[in-house]
Amino acid sequence: MWSSSALILSLCFLSEAASRVTSSVKPLKINLSERVPHMLDLVHRTHLPPAELSAAKSSYNTTLSSGLPLSTLKSLRKEWITSFKWELEQESINQYHHFTTKVEGQDIHFIQEPSQDPNAVPIILLHGWPGSFLEMLPLIDLLTLKEPAVKESHPTSFNVVLPSLPGFGLSTPAPDGWTTSDTARILNTLMTKVLGYQTYAVHGTDWGCAVAYELYGQFNTTVRAAHLNFLPFVPPNLEQLAALNITLSGAEVDEEKRSLDWQGAGSGYFAEQTTKPNTIGLALYDNPIGQLTWIAEKFILWSDPRRGSGPSVLTDNEILRVVSLYYLTHSFVSSVYIYAQNPGGFATKYTKAKTDAPLLYTSFNYNVGFWPKALVEEVGNLVYYKFQEFGGHFPALDNPPALAADISMIGKYWHH
Ligand SMILES: *[C@@H]1O[C@H](CO)[C@@H](O)[C@H](O)[C@H]1NC(C)=O
Ligand SMILES: *[C@@H]1O[C@H](CO)[C@@H](O)[C@H](O)[C@H]1NC(C)=O
Ligand SMILES: *[C@@H]1O[C@H](CO)[C@@H](O)[C@H](O)[C@H]1NC(C)=O
Ligand SMILES: *[C@@H]1O[C@H](CO)[C@@H](O)[C@H](O)[C@H]1NC(C)=O
Repeated sequence: MWSSSALILSLCFLSEAASRVTSSVKPLKINLSERVPHMLDLVHRTHLPPAELSAAKSSYNTTLSSGLPLSTLKSLRKEWITSFKWELEQESINQYHHFTTKVEGQDIHFIQEPSQDPNAVPIILLHGWPGSFLEMLPLIDLLTLKEPAVKESHPTSFNVVLPSLPGFGLSTPAPDGWTTSDTARILNTLMTKVLGYQTYAVHGTDWGCAVAYELYGQFNTTVRAAHLNFLPFVPPNLEQLAALNITLSGAEVDEEKRSLDWQGAGSGYFAEQTTKPNTIGLALYDNPIGQLTWIAEKFILWSDPRRGSGPSVLTDNEILRVVSLYYLTHSFVSSVYIYAQNPGGFATKYTKAKTDAPLLYTSFNYNVGFWPKALVEEVGNLVYYKFQEFGGHFPALDNPPALAADISMIGKYWHH
């Protein structure tokens, strides 16, 4: 069912050894070019209906939608065929230093980018679904302070580690029975035993936030700060907020409304991926247009409506390169298994993590889940809670400067 062997063959290992990592770590240059002609051939030859069916008409509407409009799919398909160039994307992705290592039998792909600053804080950045390591790339230069514009305003710089979660991109699929808690354990091993960081910080979004929260609570001697923009707890409904005497400010009323919309009309994919991951996984396995339809809808509906303008780098090209990565690494089916393997991914009962490490939180206006400050305080040692007006569920793409600035506030609370 998993074609990890084909994936391994398509990776090209560099010969020189990297001095700053142990011998079990292998440098990696990503080369997925071999499958691109087949992908584009399928993209080209897939038949689509000639016009919107009257029952399937919809527009970009984050409150009510029948799903991805045919016109949007056609325009993305045209761009995939006419101007998207995987070779260029691959070259740009390979500007960063990629590695693989084996932990508990799992091949883990990660990027490691150090800062020039000897006092830099090590941090691990954790993506979710339908994200990938690509989602976090815009943060790297901002967090390592290679981007000179932010040198003055950020209180700290970071040594960045950015893995692909098991089952995603270039990491091997998670075995049966694997949970986000297992992922947290092997990533703590990666940071401490493999890469040699005694303490570090974590940032996570979506499923990455579930892993980040496990790291924060379960590894309280090594994980000494966390920044999240999502929580692995069921977002509150209006009755629960009322019962807790939580009153919402103007912007929060809209955030809560979007959160309820997602729980109602936006979570069909969630039920499918939790209960029948193989059906959707196999249906779309060799179907790039199918993967594009399933994934693009989420990127469009869950992000800031100003997508692709202002600070947002979530362009149509970005969506195409994410979908290409899923397709070219055969990882769509293994990625959706994260839902089935973690059916309790959102806990209903709020509990506090057993740690005194600082927790920082950013609430992005257009995210699909909303947790007011009073509830984030319930789950950890909250020291910083910020509302960002621009951004949604993919803040590293929606608003990388604001997210990097908030993550950087870790430096104000950091004690080794
Ligand atoms: C990628 O691999 C293909 C063979 O599959 C080879 O022809 C090509 O030169 C490689 N590209 C790079 C950038 O190494
Ligand atoms: C979205 O759809 C709803 C219900 O049809 C409508 O009330 C709302 O104005 C629409 N929003 C936009 C931005 O078109
Ligand atoms: C909410 O406020 C009411 C009235 O002031 C009070 O009786 C109740 O105990 C409060 N509930 C909580 C959870 O604080
Ligand atoms: C870390 O976790 C352990 C085990 O849950 C707990 O006993 C300890 O008090 C925690 N440390 C801090 C600083 O919270």
